[in-house]
Amino acid sequence: MKRIALAIVVGVLSIAVAAPAFAQDVKNGKKVYEEYCKTCHQANGQGMPKIYPPVAKSDYIKSQSVEILIREVVFGKSGKVKVNGQEYNGVMAPLPSKYKDKDVADVLTYVFTNFGNSKGKVTPQQVAAAKKKGKVK
Ligand code: HEC
Repeated sequence: MKRIALAIVVGVLSIAVAAPAFAQDVKNGKKVYEEYCKTCHQANGQGMPKIYPPVAKSDYIKSQSVEILIREVVFGKSGKVKVNGQEYNGVMAPLPSKYKDKDVADVLTYVFTNFGNSKGKVTPQQVAAAKKKGKVK
């Protein structure tokens, strides 16, 4: 019985600690999005028809691996891509180097948990590991 009570206390405490940390990550991610990504993908994530694909409810985000998405955002992406039934053929430049692994993780966490997406949290460790694989060929 004591063990169960202890498990509950530890459980509640870790939620209490994790929730504000997550909120901070999302807040920093929103800042990066608004400072950088918004110019193209727009404040509501809808992009611009035929020029910038939407990140809102994106079936591309849904179907791609987190690792590929990290590498595309960090190293840039070009060539044909179909998002929500519409084809795009543009160029996303590499992310400016002032954005650190934590910023990349946070901006993707923000995008993945907002705009109707549900892909979950990205960690700086995932970003560091994905970056080792370089640009997506
Ligand atoms: C200068 C304009 C520009 C900026 C800034 C930009 N993107 Fe993109 N993004 C594009 C274009 C253009 C494509 C499509 C590239 C292609 O045709 O292959 C794209 C594709 C994507 C995709 C894959 C397709 C989709 O819509 O699901 C994601 C995800 C994405 N961008 C996220 C981001 C994030 C996050 C940021 C900010 C860190 C960002 N982009 C900044 C122009 C931009």
